[in-house]
Amino acid sequence: MCGIVGAIAERNVSAILIEGLKRLEYRGYDSAGVAICNLAGELRRSRRIGKVAALEQALGEEPLPGHLGIAHTRWATHGVPSEANAHPHFSGESLAVVHNGIIENHDELRQRLERLGYVFTSQTDTETIVHLLHHTLKRLPDLADALKAVVGELHGAYGLAVISRAQPDRILAARSGSPLVVGLGLGENFIASDPLALRQVTDRFIYLEEGDIADIRRDSLQIWNAAGTTVQRETVQFHESAEAAEKGEYRHYMLKEIFEQPRVVQRTLEGRLGATQVLVAAFGPQAVELFARVRQVQIVACGTSYHAGMVARYWLEELTGIPCQVEVASEFRYRTVAVHPDSLFVTISQSGETADTLAALRDARSSGYLASLAICNVGTSSLVRESDLVLLTNAGPEIGVASTKAFTTQLVALLLLTLALGRARGTLDPAREAELVAALRALPGDLQAVLGMDKAVEQISALFAEKHHTLFLGRGAQYPVAMEGALKLKEISYIHAEAYPAGELKHGPLALVDSDMPVVTVAPNNALLEKLKSNLQEVRARGGQLVVFADREAGLENGEGVHVVQVPHIHPLLAPILYTVPLQLLSYHVAVLKGTDVDQPRNLAKSVTVE
Ligand code: AGP
Repeated sequence: MCGIVGAIAERNVSAILIEGLKRLEYRGYDSAGVAICNLAGELRRSRRIGKVAALEQALGEEPLPGHLGIAHTRWATHGVPSEANAHPHFSGESLAVVHNGIIENHDELRQRLERLGYVFTSQTDTETIVHLLHHTLKRLPDLADALKAVVGELHGAYGLAVISRAQPDRILAARSGSPLVVGLGLGENFIASDPLALRQVTDRFIYLEEGDIADIRRDSLQIWNAAGTTVQRETVQFHESAEAAEKGEYRHYMLKEIFEQPRVVQRTLEGRLGATQVLVAAFGPQAVELFARVRQVQIVACGTSYHAGMVARYWLEELTGIPCQVEVASEFRYRTVAVHPDSLFVTISQSGETADTLAALRDARSSGYLASLAICNVGTSSLVRESDLVLLTNAGPEIGVASTKAFTTQLVALLLLTLALGRARGTLDPAREAELVAALRALPGDLQAVLGMDKAVEQISALFAEKHHTLFLGRGAQYPVAMEGALKLKEISYIHAEAYPAGELKHGPLALVDSDMPVVTVAPNNALLEKLKSNLQEVRARGGQLVVFADREAGLENGEGVHVVQVPHIHPLLAPILYTVPLQLLSYHVAVLKGTDVDQPRNLAKSVTVE
């Protein structure tokens, strides 16, 4: 992961770099650092453990003004979070590098460079890059020529930026496996891992492609592709407002993003629904023809996005009869997969930059799938650019590390996909499609109603603040909802949470249940309700405390050790979307009670661009 930002300008770039880093903290926040070249030709740096605020304070006490700089916020992979391991890394006092990714042959490079007399001051893989560049510059004095030679020796993934005291009119950048974007200004230019970092200074961007090297100067930009040929890349103009990424009146981004769900779900639906049908062409011009040929669906994703895929399997098999498999990307990419030739390969990702999901897509493209479809929130991401078909979730920037609105909009997109496939294949009854289209139209209103449960959920959250373990139960499509609820609770409140299909309880986990282990469940009024009630009796009989989010017609009431929170009624097939919301609110309020860092929980990062 990690975030990179760089700037070359006539003005002092220090504040631009710090603002950029703050916006990139979602990529990691173990340490932060900046290297700046000043008018006296000195290259100086400042680095701090922890968040960007610590670096900002250090620069407040000891400013580093200058027209050229690179900066980095880190999510540690090689070496503990420490000042010595924080980027930028230097070779001597002339050369600085920031890097996002992993250099797999760093051990071998380190040994070679040590034999050449280089002394390493960190445990990072990145430091090998800067010393190798320093060594190569002796043979190839032009920074671009030297960098081209160096990347030829790197195995692994990198997005990197380099500055040199000897060549203070340029930033060199290289991309292979980690995203990089050039920001275009007037008489100034920038580089970053994500355009979000630069939205305060420009709205024009050029995305570097795999293998690209860029020479960024104040007034010009030159890009070479992997073959070393000079190329022109398209300039993308951004229109959405920079405020979308502000916290506004909310205490945390996560809360803001939970409360945005009615509005963003409306956006996911916009332009995709006819009067009684889903508009299949919304998936791309070839979708009508391709979807008619789909006999199987393979979904691949990570984390929350994987849970969305698990819900989609229930929908796809029930509504369309098309077999569907779902797998986490880190497993899928490393096993031999038997591919059905008419299989649609679907990736789901908020960021579109998750390394394992992206690698799985790249493998799939040569594995005989019919086509690839990305369900993604970031239209400019690698996943979107490398897929045959795309459906954007249009949730807007999600800043909180814990995914909320990204998940519910993914679910909506996957239900649209289900309906589109069912119609294209002729396996979905048109009356059923019309009924679900109507239910989808009503969904933003249903989500608004469910947010009205906030106070009730906040009260219940007190039950969890002192607990160390919890169980989440669900049946059918609510099982992945329970998994998502457990993931939310563990990632932001640090309470151990496990999810089980409720019917599995008696096959082992019931042994854990006692009065100290709250059991959370979601109980919409569906065909599995009576079965679920029996499972809840099993918990009560062992003294377990139950927290049940239940349909008001489910016939479940408060009692000793049973806390029922009523959820507005919803079409049973849309229940996974609606029942996710109280679980998001629950984890949020528990985390607030526990005083954790809700938006940036420990050890995590928003965008996982390393495998
Ligand atoms: C969940 O709250 C996390 N943010 C995480 O599990 C996330 O869903 C996962 O890393 C996948 O990210 P992506 O959707 O951007 O691919």
